[in-house]
Amino acid sequence: MDLMEAIKGRRSIRKYRPDPIPEEVLRAVLEAVRWSPSWANTQCWEVIIVKDPKTKSELAATLARGNPALASMTDAPLLLVLCGKKGSSGYYKGQAATIKGDWLMFDTGLAMQNLCLAAHSQGLGTVVIGLFDHKRVEEILGVSQEAEVVAMTPLGYPSAEGSTPKRKEISGFVFYERYGKGKD
Ligand SMILES: Cc1cc2nc3c(=O)[nH]c(=O)nc-3n(C[C@H](O)[C@H](O)[C@H](O)COP(=O)(O)O)c2cc1C
Repeated sequence: MDLMEAIKGRRSIRKYRPDPIPEEVLRAVLEAVRWSPSWANTQCWEVIIVKDPKTKSELAATLARGNPALASMTDAPLLLVLCGKKGSSGYYKGQAATIKGDWLMFDTGLAMQNLCLAAHSQGLGTVVIGLFDHKRVEEILGVSQEAEVVAMTPLGYPSAEGSTPKRKEISGFVFYERYGKGKD
């Protein structure tokens, strides 16, 4: 699949078929995570793959009832929970190198985008889920103190396409020479 086609064609998928994902297809998705860029190549991402229906239900319960991705948490054959190891991305000799502190949100975000694009290119759907009780998910999955849960996504074959939310025009977010300055 052409890169721009993948970038523009990827949608948040919230309806899934239960069909299993072949091992080599899952591997291709994880391989895309592996090659994500990261601060000084620190690769702070970690992925927990959840297949057990009971665990998926427990994780689904950490979403608010109104979260539009709720049903997808149990409908899709797999749930991928993206964690970040604390204190590596953005650090130099144990000290935060910038005023931003830990860059784990940034690096796991890059990894998640690679994951979503690779999944899309394999005919799979994803939806980034960020609105849930992170502490509860960490408890359920026994996440170590050295890491934190950032986001989750179901992974599976779509049973319905996602709608395409409108995007801003390029002129709505690009400035020239100075913040806020449009093209002359
Ligand atoms: C950080 C982040 C958190 C998100 N959290 C949720 C969520 O909790 N529930 C949900 O249904 N969608 C969630 N989304 C999906 C966005 O709503 C979606 O990406 C956006 O509306 C654009 O649609 P598209 O992905 O189809 O292009 C999240 C996306 C991002 C990047």
